[in-house]
Amino acid sequence: MGARVGPPMVDPPLVVVADPIDAGAIARLKAGPCRVVDASADPGSLAGTLADAWGLVVRSRTKVTAELLGRAPQLSLIARAGVGVDNIDMAAAGARGIRVVNAPSAATASVAELTVAFYLVLVRGLAPQFAATRAGKWERGSHGHELAGKTVGFIGYGRIAREVARRVAPFGARAIAYDPFVPAPIDATEILPFEMVLEHADVVSVHAALTPDNRHLLDARAFSCLKRGAFVVNVARGALIDEAALLAALNEGRVAGAALDVFEVEPPMNRALLEHPHVIATPHIGAATAEGQERAGAETIDEVLRALRGEPLTALVAAPGGAR
Ligand code: MLT
Repeated sequence: MGARVGPPMVDPPLVVVADPIDAGAIARLKAGPCRVVDASADPGSLAGTLADAWGLVVRSRTKVTAELLGRAPQLSLIARAGVGVDNIDMAAAGARGIRVVNAPSAATASVAELTVAFYLVLVRGLAPQFAATRAGKWERGSHGHELAGKTVGFIGYGRIAREVARRVAPFGARAIAYDPFVPAPIDATEILPFEMVLEHADVVSVHAALTPDNRHLLDARAFSCLKRGAFVVNVARGALIDEAALLAALNEGRVAGAALDVFEVEPPMNRALLEHPHVIATPHIGAATAEGQERAGAETIDEVLRALRGEPLTALVAAPGGAR
């Protein structure tokens, strides 16, 4: 917090917008003390715009690799209009002294609400009911379970997971969590070892940031620890789950259902997982509400404008790690 980026090297400095962000935020940037190239509609043109770039604005589509950074010798600031910085080579940016900022809380409510929606649809077994009723069937009888009395086990207990816990408490659900960066209980949520969370959770809810150390955190061994019939929800990053191991756990009945907003490769290639009768999926839209995107754009551009004016930055990302 409070760190400054150096004054822009090129006058007027060039800010390149690589991914689509809120139109109002772009308009504010264009009215700022900079030139703006908006390459968001034509990703193929991005590399050719970077030679003089002082700032780069991205969401998650653009992969800010060492190779891409090599095309931007003047780059001083990368602004991520969202939370996760796993699409940015943080080591390469750090080695060049390029600052990275994000919009850490802009979409917290949006992602938390999608997560709760997933819990309710999964636990109540609603997806097949929607499909059957639409198809003209009228299948009454006993369907699904209540969220009341169930245990939600959070993997990663940062901002979003805490908001989810706050939202499910009134449903009568209990929250437990694993997070190596959170040493003590928060509110009523007990912090437990990884395996214990897996053993006790009725719903395993994944919210960790993806780092070089936790790829496939939920692998075959982790799934073997789950309570039989548990549900799995992932709104964080697809690579936190070994999708082949999840599919095997679904087929075997250890996992009763999964709700996935994110995939290791997006768009996902694993049709067997997507089309599994107990899987519901969305196309990485957790943060993509009108409100969430307006806030993400505004917070990101505020930070770029602060940097352009040489003012202290408020959302510097120190290093990859921690929960989302
Ligand atoms: C985020 O990290 O902010 C979300 O996954 C949304 C996004 O990447 O656009």
